[in-house]
Amino acid sequence: MQRRLILLATTATVAFAGSAFAQAYPNKAITIVVPFAAGGPTDLMARIVGEHMGKELGQQIIIDNTTGAAGTIAVGKVARAAPDGYTISIGHIGTHVANGLIYKNLNYDLLTDLAPIARLPSNPMLVATSNQVPAKDLKELVAYLNHNPDKVSGGTAGMGSGSHLGALAFFTATKAKYQLVPYRGTGPAVQDLIANQIQIMVDQSSNSLPHVRAGKIKAYAVTAVARSPAMPDIPTAAEAGYPGMEVAIWHGLWAPKGTPPEIVARLNAAAIATLTNAEVRRRLEDLGQDLPTPEQMAPAAFAAFHRAEFVKWKPIIEAANVKIE
Ligand code: MLT
Repeated sequence: MQRRLILLATTATVAFAGSAFAQAYPNKAITIVVPFAAGGPTDLMARIVGEHMGKELGQQIIIDNTTGAAGTIAVGKVARAAPDGYTISIGHIGTHVANGLIYKNLNYDLLTDLAPIARLPSNPMLVATSNQVPAKDLKELVAYLNHNPDKVSGGTAGMGSGSHLGALAFFTATKAKYQLVPYRGTGPAVQDLIANQIQIMVDQSSNSLPHVRAGKIKAYAVTAVARSPAMPDIPTAAEAGYPGMEVAIWHGLWAPKGTPPEIVARLNAAAIATLTNAEVRRRLEDLGQDLPTPEQMAPAAFAAFHRAEFVKWKPIIEAANVKIE
């Protein structure tokens, strides 16, 4: 009996210490681990969202760009981090779904080693080329690729990245091909596109659109079912003659598994406050981002969405036969 009482007392002490720890949270800077290079779309999302979340949480948000291997190094870093809410992962459909289906040797499980915090915005992709490519529309671009099969290369952020999924959707819908060149993120890749070191990219609108607006690259189509209010002059791929290219890159935030639910809830509330802030919304929508509702951002709803995305993408990745052992 006495032993049981001591055990109960110990359990209660641990629970109290855990909740006191959660109540004191956050009392130091929080690191968001970005799986791609600075200056690209995931980095931009982390900086826009992180800046406002930091204000909501009363702490600085540090951005840690841990690049390489299509984001798998960064996600593994968070999966193995202390579950205390001070190291969290930002990623997207590529890093947190496609990689789990493509890379067979991951040392973490995307569905069980991470605790979903909040779903973040989603943006379509733009089919864009350097200004040197002499095509005026998507049909001419496809004809150009077919006539120059070995001359055209396109940037991606590696196997399984969003830009790789975009390229696969382009190949499937147009039956055209180009050589894929892997980068540590599409921030550096778009600079090479501007310089015509590579000729084509299918990348997130948040990364390409500012350069299209500045006349530094050309956009042919958006991979969405409808035109975006942020870029009303750019036709959908279906309008431009190639249906079946629809792909949107949704983002999210995750903590390591075992993070106290109170801390996940605190981070979730900060994320919701961020995406309901008018100025943050304006900045994201200007880049073509679609914002999730607060209901879609709830941890349980996001977890269900994340699991459903695995089910949706499994046959697509298998059909594309993209595998890395
Ligand atoms: C990036 O931040 O560089 C991109 O999200 C990479 C990608 O997935 O294409």
